[in-house]
Amino acid sequence: MRGEAPIHLVVLGITGDLSRRLLFPSLVALHQAGRLPPLRLLGVGAEPWSLEAVQEHLEAFLRHRGGVDLSAWRELKGWMAYRQAEISTKGLGFLRGLEGPALFYLALPPTLFPRAVRALGALGLGRERRGWRRVVVEKPFGTDLASAQALNLLLHRYFREEQVLRMDHFLGKGAVQNLLHLRRENPALEGLFSRQGTAYVEITYAETLGLEGRARYYEGTGALRDMLQNHLMQLLALVAMDPPARLEGSSLRAARAEALRALLPAHPQGAVRGQYQGYRDEAGVAPGSRTETFAALRLASQAPRWLGVPFYLRSGKRLVQGLGHITLFSHPSPEGRRGRLTFRLTPSVALELSLLGPRGREETLSFRLGPEPEFGAYEELLLAALEGDLRPFPSEVEVEEAWRVVDPVLRAWRRGTPQVYPQGSEGPSLDGLLLPGHRLLPLGGGT
Ligand code: BG6
Repeated sequence: MRGEAPIHLVVLGITGDLSRRLLFPSLVALHQAGRLPPLRLLGVGAEPWSLEAVQEHLEAFLRHRGGVDLSAWRELKGWMAYRQAEISTKGLGFLRGLEGPALFYLALPPTLFPRAVRALGALGLGRERRGWRRVVVEKPFGTDLASAQALNLLLHRYFREEQVLRMDHFLGKGAVQNLLHLRRENPALEGLFSRQGTAYVEITYAETLGLEGRARYYEGTGALRDMLQNHLMQLLALVAMDPPARLEGSSLRAARAEALRALLPAHPQGAVRGQYQGYRDEAGVAPGSRTETFAALRLASQAPRWLGVPFYLRSGKRLVQGLGHITLFSHPSPEGRRGRLTFRLTPSVALELSLLGPRGREETLSFRLGPEPEFGAYEELLLAALEGDLRPFPSEVEVEEAWRVVDPVLRAWRRGTPQVYPQGSEGPSLDGLLLPGHRLLPLGGGT
């Protein structure tokens, strides 16, 4: 057997916020756990900094965050090089002829994705003659269906679909693993994942956080693009799909894609948007901003399994509590009450089964399905990217189908304004979203 050639991890945008906040802390955590293969870390950035200055910049965040093994970081530092370069074929020319396996990580503002892809492609870096080549594209993948299609087209000029890893960190969350395994290992429960067992589905991700200094990104994005089109749609796909016989990349991606393909385009009348009070006073936000910080959609599937079952997606910032869950509500009892199955994503990962008993009593059984996940979502995705495991990465079809579904609402929301909701509340009124007899779990506790 040949020895393992070190993998080139080429980080375009190493001096940016994403590298510092997410990529490097995850690399350090993986190295600390002994899970990183031998790497050559080549950082590219716009800043005229020395390698030491780049390292100092990354390290300052690690220290500030705490809980990091600095000895793992010191070792990683020994694998690093830095190059100041612009994102163009000329700027990245020094990469021409790179030998060995390589992961190109686009930790860049999305406006630079096309330039980066063109440059990598023109330099022949997508060709796999001298080891595998993969490109990681961070979110947001496009801003609507047309731009996502254009980006996919460009990527495929130089990279095969299997070489393109689109980041959606929700697919690395422990609760998502739970959901996949629950469905696979317990066929008896499949009846719940259908119109026979379920009257409606709720997928909620509520945050107490606000902008966190990301106004530049968020102002042009909003909750529908930031959370629903990607993260919540992926959760929906995992609930709605026909479970594949094999949990390997191509089967799982095909199953999720099919679930998304079956969705009807969202209707603006089944959509709600809100903006938290005070959003317009945040630094970097336009005084008359119409960006939504809360979005909810009612979606319908044409798959026979789900005919007539609404899927409610809801996410917002500065709400009363930070929590995420997927809930399958059963059909009503003669008294109109409903049992439910809930997958808690955050703050804790758990499964809850609520059944109705005599005299209106509701009993909830809460348990974990697996051990505490070893890593966070970001670390899981990085490992998968290095191993070429495609399962947690949405395919071209998945991303485009998700945009197809939300596009009509994005277009409608170019006009009008979001409802204003108080910070720390349940969000705006959901009138128009919920069908009669349906209610979502309250965010502030209780059922
Ligand atoms: C990111 C969004 O993708 O997901 C953020 O851009 C959001 O706005 C975040 O806060 C939520 O995910 P998590 O895993 O950090 O709770």
